[in-house]
Amino acid sequence: MTATILDGKAVAERIKAAVKAEVAKRREKPGLAAVIVGENPASRVYVGMKQKACEEAGIYSELHKLPEKATEKELLQLIERLNEDRKIHAILVQLPLPKHINEEKILAAVAVEKDVDGFNPVNAGKLAAGNEEAVPCTPKGIIRLLEEHKFEIGGKNAVVVGRSNIVGRPVAMMLLNRDATVTICHSKTKDLKQHTKNADILIAAVGKPKMITADMVKDGAAVIDVGTTKLGGKLTGDVDFEAVKKKAACITPVPGGVGPMTIAMLLENTIERHNVR
Ligand code: GUN
Repeated sequence: MTATILDGKAVAERIKAAVKAEVAKRREKPGLAAVIVGENPASRVYVGMKQKACEEAGIYSELHKLPEKATEKELLQLIERLNEDRKIHAILVQLPLPKHINEEKILAAVAVEKDVDGFNPVNAGKLAAGNEEAVPCTPKGIIRLLEEHKFEIGGKNAVVVGRSNIVGRPVAMMLLNRDATVTICHSKTKDLKQHTKNADILIAAVGKPKMITADMVKDGAAVIDVGTTKLGGKLTGDVDFEAVKKKAACITPVPGGVGPMTIAMLLENTIERHNVR
């Protein structure tokens, strides 16, 4: 078998066009504020891509760049201001934050109704309780990609490798909400292969290039690669794509799989935050 390629770029283009059409119908423009602290080069690139996508969709966006040495108090004050700002409907704090800033405290300060990433603990808790009012962009993009390709989730064995708050945990909750039987694996998992071999849906969100090899994949699985590590100037996923595509039913490429879906879901979430004014 050779896998169907889950073309995230193509699906994302369709979603972005739909968002643009929706924005054009609205008298008031949705507004997104992106906050970035420090000089993390990857974060700068991601935020730049998010802003460009907003601009193309007709969404108002502003970027708040704080220096690496900014204090937690300064960041909290900025978030408070954005929470009150009537032209801003969606707030994004790009992660990771510098070590001296308490991430949990910052994410909790973002107004629940403006939390475009679904990282506020209230929204994370709602997701864990089965309420998907505000869900993180990458997990939402993964589920949408599976749904767009009519890959049935209910009753399937889903294995998520990685337990981050940004991807692993929330995507596991979303799979559970759709009646998958979900296993979450992580760095302390004994015999990872024993779990992944059993996965009808395998999601790799670790950041270790090509760690998922063909022998770890079940025939006919859907394989979703969230990894993006720069290796010799090339973005490399967590999955050994060339070998695994010969076994999987469908697989996401890197780049062009999950990445573009994250951005499309950010735009969709911005519209949703605009709806709840
Ligand atoms: N860092 C890595 N992924 C994300 C994301 O989806 N949102 C934010 N805010 N930061 C990230």
